[in-house]
Amino acid sequence: MIKELNGIGLDVPDARRYLEVLSQAVQNIPFYPTALRRTVLDALDHAPPTETWTRQDTMRVLGFVDHGLIETLDREWHDYDRNEADRLFEYASSHRLFDSIKSAAVLGAGSCRLGDYLASLPLMDRVVCSDISWPALHFGRALIEANYAELPEILTKPRVFYHVEPQSTRLSRTTKESRFKPPLTPSERRKCIRYVVRDVFAGWVEPVLSELIVVPYLLDIFRATRAISLLLRICQRVRAGQQIVIIATCISEARAGPGRDPGLILDILDRCGFKVRFLDLTFLPYSFSYYSYGEVHTQWNTLVVRAERSADPGADIFIARSDRWHELEANRREKANPAGSVALDLVLGNLPRTESYRAFGARLIPQIGATEFENAIGELLAEGLVELRIGAS
Ligand SMILES: C[S@@+](CC[C@H](N)C(=O)[O-])C[C@H]1O[C@@H](n2cnc3c(N)ncnc32)[C@H](O)[C@@H]1O
Repeated sequence: MIKELNGIGLDVPDARRYLEVLSQAVQNIPFYPTALRRTVLDALDHAPPTETWTRQDTMRVLGFVDHGLIETLDREWHDYDRNEADRLFEYASSHRLFDSIKSAAVLGAGSCRLGDYLASLPLMDRVVCSDISWPALHFGRALIEANYAELPEILTKPRVFYHVEPQSTRLSRTTKESRFKPPLTPSERRKCIRYVVRDVFAGWVEPVLSELIVVPYLLDIFRATRAISLLLRICQRVRAGQQIVIIATCISEARAGPGRDPGLILDILDRCGFKVRFLDLTFLPYSFSYYSYGEVHTQWNTLVVRAERSADPGADIFIARSDRWHELEANRREKANPAGSVALDLVLGNLPRTESYRAFGARLIPQIGATEFENAIGELLAEGLVELRIGAS
């Protein structure tokens, strides 16, 4: 069984399939360095992928892997005048957001600059950076280790900046060397950071034992019922006594359904038995959109919440078929079961209209096993075929 790639753990339901999709992506996306392409092919023993995946499949399996990844790497690590991640760190330290925490797991860690910040805090002795994107973790680790030779050339080549002088009608063009923020974690402490590929929707082999689970802007790439399902999925994994920090850009509802409403997020936390320890609505530029619920858009756009779970996980979480389920039922063999797994077929076949998650698990786990059950649910949630809700309605 393939368990890691280049020192980054692969805690995904089907590592072989993950590597096949990754291999196709890194071969086709122009900015990947040749050495990295070779690393992925070597891990597959040079057996070429057996299927061809669409861009949508690729995003689903790998998360940020294309130019969106370059953007987050740049936003977090590039050493320009007002680095946006630095503003998040200034905010975190002035509000003591991560005070007195000794271990943290970052979900959707992206290119790991927040992981680097957390590992540099004086009390911190263990940080796990997890993301579905192996390349995000790989390049993030290279930046934390100041190993710039690993980075794609698109990030390291000189950059062109334009500006217009006051009263001028001409564009001024300056070329500057590319510069990255130096890592915050001293080299002797970098070994306290672990990197793992994990899908927040799927089952995980290892439980998350860290004191704090940090979810920085991960909700930002989901909306409507998928964002709610994702939050409930994360809540299911937080145990009594563990804490969570969520940083999310709020957006209002749209045709696709509910947005990321701060009231909804707080309601979910409350009903999952979390006690809020810190709460703020603030303006952070380090966000993926600038829409907000605030009357004045520039006043706030981001919800920051730290909460501790006091009750037992999952008691009140329900699972239901989604609207997409009906659409895809017609061609479900082809569409909804890409891995061809028996577990997925069984879960699909028994999918309730609405049932408590626990009761559904109690029915199916004896037949297929806990990990297979969790992974099948993860696949269906990620595809939008099932939804998690609080309360049965
Ligand atoms: C908006 S970025 C945030 C990254 C980083 N936390 C930051 O603040 O820049 C969202 C991240 O979520 C990751 N992601 C997408 N789907 C995921 C999933 N199902 N499980 C885990 N991570 C996922 C993407 O690869 C990407 O790195």
